[in-house]
This record gives sequence, C-alpha cells and structure tokens, in this order.
Amino acid sequence: MIQSLEELQLLAQEKRKQEEGFTQELRVCIGSSCASLGSNELEKELAQHIQNQETTKTCKVKGVGCNGLCSSAIMVSNYDKQKHQETLYEQVTQEDIPALANAFQDSTALKEKLCDMTSAFFTKQRKIVLENAGIIDPDDIEDYIAHEGYLALFTALEELSANEIIEEIKLSGLRGRGGGGYPTGLKWETVSKVESEQKYIVCNGDEGDPGAFMDRAVMEADPHKVIEGMIIAGYACGANKGYIYVRAEYPIAVEKLNRAIKQARKYGILGTKIASTSFDFDIEIRLGGGAFVCGEATALVASIEGKRGNPRQKPPHLSDHGLWEAPTVLNNVETFANIAPIIRNGGAWYKNIGTPTSTGTKVFALTGHIKNTGLVEVPMGMTLQELIDEIGGGVPQGSKLKAIQTGGPSGGCIPKELLHTQVDYESFKAIGSIIGSGGLIVMDENSNMVEVARFFMDFCKSESCGKCVPCRVGTTELSFLLDKFVDKKATPSDFELLKSLCEVVQNSSLCGLGQTAPNPVLSTIKYFENEYLKGISND
Ligand SMILES: Cc1cc2nc3c(=O)[nH]c(=O)nc-3n(C[C@H](O)[C@H](O)[C@H](O)COP(=O)(O)O)c2cc1C
Ligand code: SF4
Repeated sequence: MIQSLEELQLLAQEKRKQEEGFTQELRVCIGSSCASLGSNELEKELAQHIQNQETTKTCKVKGVGCNGLCSSAIMVSNYDKQKHQETLYEQVTQEDIPALANAFQDSTALKEKLCDMTSAFFTKQRKIVLENAGIIDPDDIEDYIAHEGYLALFTALEELSANEIIEEIKLSGLRGRGGGGYPTGLKWETVSKVESEQKYIVCNGDEGDPGAFMDRAVMEADPHKVIEGMIIAGYACGANKGYIYVRAEYPIAVEKLNRAIKQARKYGILGTKIASTSFDFDIEIRLGGGAFVCGEATALVASIEGKRGNPRQKPPHLSDHGLWEAPTVLNNVETFANIAPIIRNGGAWYKNIGTPTSTGTKVFALTGHIKNTGLVEVPMGMTLQELIDEIGGGVPQGSKLKAIQTGGPSGGCIPKELLHTQVDYESFKAIGSIIGSGGLIVMDENSNMVEVARFFMDFCKSESCGKCVPCRVGTTELSFLLDKFVDKKATPSDFELLKSLCEVVQNSSLCGLGQTAPNPVLSTIKYFENEYLKGISND
C-alpha cells in the first residue's frame, strides 16, 4: 500500500535500483499489430534463449506497447541503459532470436533489419500521450511508477485543491480528443460545481471510426496513465466512481486495463482513503455494445446502464444528468492520458506546445496509401505536409497523393493542394474537415472520391440506430443516390437532390452520427465535384 507521495517516490527509486542489474533491455512489442504476428510467443522464446546463455544474464526481455511503426511489425528494440541508446529492429521473426540475443554484444547483428531511428518518423514526433509506449511493461505497475507514474496523482492529492487542478487543466488549454474538441477544464469545472452525493467519471474507449486505433494503442501500452487521469478527474470533480467503456473487439486493451485496475487496488491507488486522504475512488470496466453509435455520449451512458445504446436528446447534458441521472464527466482515452503530464509539468508547459487555440499534441493513426502506416504523436500546428510526407514517408513509390480523409465518418476529404494546412481544430474546420479522434486515411491518385464518400455513407447507414427518421431514412437514400453516381447512372436532378438531402440530414438528425454523416459527401463535392459530374449519365 502506498500511503504518501514520499512512499511513492521511494518505491520508484527502489524499482529503478533493482533494474540497475540489467544493463540492456530487449523490448518486444506486444501491441495488437505485433501480437497478431506472434510477438507474445517471440517474447517468451527470446526470454528463454537469453536465460540459457551465461553471457546474457544482464539483459532483460520485456513486453512493451506499440512504438508506432505498425507497418514493420514485429518490432523489437534493444535499449542500452548505460549509453541511453536504442537500436530498433523491424520485421523480426522467430528465426532472428539467436541474432537478437547477441545483438547487445555484436552491433552488426541483424543489420538487414535495423530501423533508421534518425528518420523523420522518429525525430519529428513529440510524445506526451505515448511517452511510455514501447518503453514500459504495461503489466507492471512498478515499471509505470519508476517512470513518474502516479506522481501527478499523489502530488495533486497532497499539494493541490480540486479547484487548483481544474485551473491547471483550464490553463493547459486541453481540448477533448474524442472528436468534439470541447475544453476539458471547462467540462470538469461544470461538473465540480453541481451539488450531488454521487458523480461519475467515464472514459470513452469505444473507438469506432474505421481506420482508427489511437485509443487502443494507449490502453494497451500504458493503461495506468488512463487510470491516473481518471482518478485525478474524480478528485477534481468530487466523483468517487469511474467506468471505462471499452470496445469489446479490443481484447488486449481489456486485459491490460483489468490487470492495471487490480494492481492499482493492491497498491492502494484505487479504493478507499487514497494516499491517506478521505478521497475514495474505484473503476469498473464495461464492454462496448458493438455499435459505432455507442461511442456517442448519451448512447454510451445508456449502454453502461444496461439499456440499448440509443442516443437521446440533449439537453439535459451529462454534466447534470449523466450516468444514472448523476453528474458525469465523459472524456476520451487520449484526453485522460494527457492529464498526468499536465499536472506533473504544469498547464503553462502544455499550453506552450501547439497553437494558441489547439494546444498540446495529437495522436494520429496513419493508414491507407502511405509508407509508414502506424501511430504517431505530433505537436498541433505541424503542417499536413510534414505529417504525411516526412513522418509518414509519403505515398509508396509509383503513385501520387490525391487526398487525405480525416475525422472518420464525421470528417472530410482534404485535397493534396491543401497539404500546407496546419494540423489544428480551426484550420481543419476552415477547409471543411475535422481532426476528429485522429484517424487519417491517405488516398492515392487511383482513388475514386465518390466511392470513398459512399463507403462512409454505407457505414453510417448500417450504424444508424434508427431512432430518428432523417438519419434512418436519409442515410439510406443518400447511399442509394451515391450508388447511382458510382454506377454512372445519376441524373442532373440526382445531384441537386444529393446536396439538399445532405443539408436536411445534417440539420434535422437527433445526434452527432446523423448530423455529421453527410460531411464526407459534402467535402468531396467541394473539392472533387468533377468526379460526381462524371457519374451523371448522358442517356
Ligand atoms: C456517433 C458518435 C460516435 C462517437 N464515438 C466516440 C468514440 O468512440 N470515442 C470517443 O472518445 N468519443 C466518441 N464520440 C464523441 C463522444 O460523444 C464525446 O464527445 C467524447 O467522448 C467526449 O470526450 P472528450 O471531450 O474527451 O473528447 C462519438 C460521437 C458520436 C456522435
Ligand atoms: S441521428 Fe441516427 S444514430 Fe443518432 S439518434 Fe438519429 S437515427 Fe440514431
């Protein structure tokens, strides 16, 4: 049981001392992408191999979360603790185990699988949310503590009032990373001011956007960081119960979170009288209902309550009528993962990263026609060109960039001519797209933009909960119209109908799903109208 900040710091020191016996760490990625290629088995065999060799007794094998370069799975890094030097290997297989085991003695080993860590993919990123990903063992709370884990929580409990925490989050300028970009400090302040015996903190880990896997990686690589952010939110807002609503299709994330919660309880970090204060807080996991709409705030709350995950009218907002009618803070996984670094380093530190109105960093999942598919974290304000061409390595050889789809089914398509656009909430909105939760799909010159719009409309059509007519019937009609354009059977009046129906669905749907479903159509009409006109039949 850790009962004070001092005890936490002592434990961190002790753990670091224990680890001094190991001069080398072989870090095997056990995140979803690498695990799907057998990295768990590789980690076990590598550990066995190392154990059997007398010369490798000072080398530790450890399973870590995703370091981002998913296209090169399985990733293994060799970290020299004395030189603070990391060597990264890509596309590692079982056959590479003997060479890997010798890598710390022979720097030429596995030369053909060496990954260039001086490339922009590594040097241009700024890691705050993912600071521990690929470094710590997500199954070991003490490893987290040795890397400043729970320092923010214990500092907050011993040295800051609830108001001071909220002021710090407000000062940081942090905005919700789930898509809407609502100021987090303001949300917490509203809930903190509501008088109520019972309040809740809920973490949204439903992540349903096609092509998005940012939150999955955070939950798998650093579950304690999400938990720490939630406990701090509980203390700041006067809540003593939290729920993490996780997509059921994320078994590794669920396993990591479950283990982390158990460990946090064992160490007295969750439970009653945390850090010898009168503050109690505990967390439970709820599995997602398997529908995209369950990520919508009111639907998510209904789903946790055991009801069908249908959205409802707002207001009332969750801040006064949330889970079981109690005041509730709902934040995204990445939002919570930003909290501990902000409390540790101060709101002013965070505010200095990014742009004045979009502060901090953003995690993006790069997918589609791009060389470095995977996960990246960049400071807000970076241009799309730096993100796509430099960090992402651009479109693979032989083809050229056409457009970038951001924000999933609620987002839009940005043409290559706007690659100079800054990555921030305002700049994306100005060009008819959104940052959304961070899914970023790159499309090459062979992509058909009407088909892209139809893909997202079909997605919304099948994910519509059916509660309101504009969305239920509107997305079906829009999908039918888009089929006609793809099949080159549309008429000029279909084009007018398509545009006006988009407006109706946007303006009269009940929840965000319907309200934003026309966005991919509208942005492709804006930038690629010609492709729609080609879909109009001359017969
Ligand atoms: C259809 C729909 C699906 C959504 N899915 C998610 C999701 O998977 N994860 C998420 O964090 N937010 C999702 N949101 C946004 C949430 O409603 C909510 O705004 C967010 O969780 C608030 O957290 P934040 O302020 O930290 O962004 C979705 C919204 C809509 C309309
Ligand atoms: S907009 Fe769509 S998803 Fe939302 S309540 Fe209406 S039918 Fe359901």
